Amino acid sequence: MLVSAKEMLQKAKAGHYAVGQFNINNLEWTKAILLTAQEMNSPVILGVSEGAGKYMCGYKTIVGMVEGMIEGLGITVPVALHLDHGSYEGALKCIEAGFSSVMFDGSHYPIDENIAKTKELVALCNEKGISLEAEVGSIGGEEDGVIGAGECADPNECKMIADLGVTMLAAGIGNIHGKYPANWPGLSFETLDAIQQKTGAMPLVLHGGTGIPADMIAKAIDLGVSKINVNTECQLSFAAATRTYIEEGKDLQGKGFDPRKLLAPGTEAIKATVREKITLFGSANKA
Ligand code: 13P
Repeated sequence: MLVSAKEMLQKAKAGHYAVGQFNINNLEWTKAILLTAQEMNSPVILGVSEGAGKYMCGYKTIVGMVEGMIEGLGITVPVALHLDHGSYEGALKCIEAGFSSVMFDGSHYPIDENIAKTKELVALCNEKGISLEAEVGSIGGEEDGVIGAGECADPNECKMIADLGVTMLAAGIGNIHGKYPANWPGLSFETLDAIQQKTGAMPLVLHGGTGIPADMIAKAIDLGVSKINVNTECQLSFAAATRTYIEEGKDLQGKGFDPRKLLAPGTEAIKATVREKITLFGSANKA
């Protein structure tokens, strides 16, 4: 059964660790992440961007696949199915389709509009027992064709959104989706500290988890980050392992072209990445 992310994140905030959100793209991704979370006895959040939602043939297909897989694989750790960077309409569609958690990313709206729309979704999500993530200050980099500049959020605006009763809050602290450029100045811990002071017990979300060095992850968790999103890193591991398989000519040996064989090394590589992140975030054995 899918669960809201509320309880797992409140426990993470109180226990000084973070729960990973790993974005899914297909069956192999979902299976790799669920099996690794189970193996490590860790709660987990499956992230779905609107683009990935379209790719996987709509939110209902995804709910069916994930629920079926939880049952079929005997997954007993808490699993939240979460819309990543949703529009207002996307959030409504996911709530309707049976997601257990949604993000409404209103960071590109003027703050008053972000507040008004987030407020409406707080009421709806509360009614349904679904967790809601809001965002203040856009995250840098490119996601689904949208390029953000990597802002640092205004702590007062963060407080205004947190006070609406959202479950978790994503705030820009100089983080970027995708690979970090060589001249990236790093996370703004000053901003994070100021946000945590204003928002208290609110679990904070760190987007752009790919490529953030371990010491910065530890410090971010120390300063109140309880959810960390990872997407690109699983894609890079999957692609590298698949490339090796083909470059070694394994697809040409015997039945090596069978998709169940061809996609196996990439799937194992995703598992290794997820295992590494769960260890780094400290959520192993916290299910
Ligand atoms: P990365 O692709 O940089 O890991 O970011 C993932 C993310 O923040 C999804 O919202």
